[in-house]
Amino acid sequence: MMCGEQCLLRGVGSAHPAKEDRAAGRGLIKFKKGGGTTMMKSKLIHEHGGERTFALIFEMGDEVMANLISFVAKNGIGGARISAIGAFRDVTLGYFDWEKKDYRKIPVQEQVEVLSLLGDVALKDDQPTIHAHVVVGRSDGSTMGGHLVEAHVRPTLEVMLVESPEHLRKQVDPESGLALIRL
Ligand SMILES: [Fe+2]
Repeated sequence: MMCGEQCLLRGVGSAHPAKEDRAAGRGLIKFKKGGGTTMMKSKLIHEHGGERTFALIFEMGDEVMANLISFVAKNGIGGARISAIGAFRDVTLGYFDWEKKDYRKIPVQEQVEVLSLLGDVALKDDQPTIHAHVVVGRSDGSTMGGHLVEAHVRPTLEVMLVESPEHLRKQVDPESGLALIRL
């Protein structure tokens, strides 16, 4: 499976929600995954010159990538940067194998600190995508890191999402097969 499906999660719903939804800036996202409802709280904490800053607080058991893509789709965000710290109960990292042109999954089935999570939001075919990398800390202080495929929070993840006034757009790069931001 190429990155366009596996790692750059496509958005759900409309990338252009109603104005009242955009203006709300605060709320809960609920969705069913694996039989359980997960929730993430969000708050618009700053807005100036077309740039909105949101705080997103994940709760125990929330899956990170699905919640993030739901949030940016709901709020019509087509360009943004993401940073976060917190902790995961498990995470699946990805390493892009250049020869195979595919991501090798690296499951980490243990409690880890989220030392640094960095990502961006861009549009591909008018749908928001998220590209994120993470460095996690293990119980002995060692670290692992990679492309963020999937992760479950325990007990919290504190995300700052800063929207760009301009949308960013991705195109499939024929050499790598990846959807990459093109300016
Ligand atoms: Fe990546």
